Amino acid sequence: MQVIETIEELRSWRSSASGTVGFVPTMGYLHEGHLALVHRARAENDRVAVSIFVNPRQFGPTEDFVRYPRDPQRDLALLDSAGVDVVFVPSVETMYPVGFTTTVDVGDLRERLEGRTRPGHFRGVATVVARLLNIVQPTRAYFGQKDAQQVAVVRRMVDDLAIDAGIVSVETVRDEDGLALSSRNIFLSIDERMAALSLSRGLFKARDRFETGERNAARLSDLVRFELELQPLVRIDYISIADSSSLDELVEVDRPATLLVAAWVGDTRLIDNVSLSI
Ligand code: PAJ
Repeated sequence: MQVIETIEELRSWRSSASGTVGFVPTMGYLHEGHLALVHRARAENDRVAVSIFVNPRQFGPTEDFVRYPRDPQRDLALLDSAGVDVVFVPSVETMYPVGFTTTVDVGDLRERLEGRTRPGHFRGVATVVARLLNIVQPTRAYFGQKDAQQVAVVRRMVDDLAIDAGIVSVETVRDEDGLALSSRNIFLSIDERMAALSLSRGLFKARDRFETGERNAARLSDLVRFELELQPLVRIDYISIADSSSLDELVEVDRPATLLVAAWVGDTRLIDNVSLSI
């Protein structure tokens, strides 16, 4: 496995790589969720590239950029065992050289849901993903359904800017008890982790009710709200049922939809979602 820090070296690897290239962008501190994307990329492509870059531009001024967990040695060992060909580990100066001013803005999609609490977040994500896709030029790039709005933003951007990469979204990987894996889960105390299970429990209850015929978005959302409100350590940010690609809020679930939740558990903000497919 090659570890590459510069754009020039990455480009020269890319131009000599034969066949298809699968690409998995990450911020490191890898867990089984990230590795599911890597395994999928490994199965579907001749070569696999992964990037590790904690992108300062997608964190707000009061967010956890500085305390975001990092463990590069462990990450590289995991990626090596997973059969990755190249790991791109650019510095901040490589990704954002002096004079960098261009940003990618995906319009409405960036303002709702996560965007309301995290203004600027999706501009940061779209800008770094566009730059990474232009550097790596993968055949396919892999994203987790766990970050459903990120998938919608990246798909929109790739379509709008005619970027020549297939976008593949991969099912959320969960702990046995249902908690969606996230690098931020390590911030949870034992009590907070118990309380955090209310997110997936609420989502699964609502999905069950949807599968037995309930189509009213408010009633489905209330099932999630009820679970979360039982937990004193949990503070709801939003619960929303939205069209899976536009993320427009729905009143009735009459098309492929996603039920999304964001909540603070103690000082840690978690997100989760399930698909509601008709
Ligand atoms: P990061 O949070 O490191 O996640 C990297 C990828 O792993 C994302 O596509 C994310 O959706 C996916 N992922 C995280 N947890 C998952 C889980 N439990 N199951 C399945 N996939 C999961 O998302 C980012 O980094 C950044 O925004 C990035 C795209 C790298 C741009 O900076």
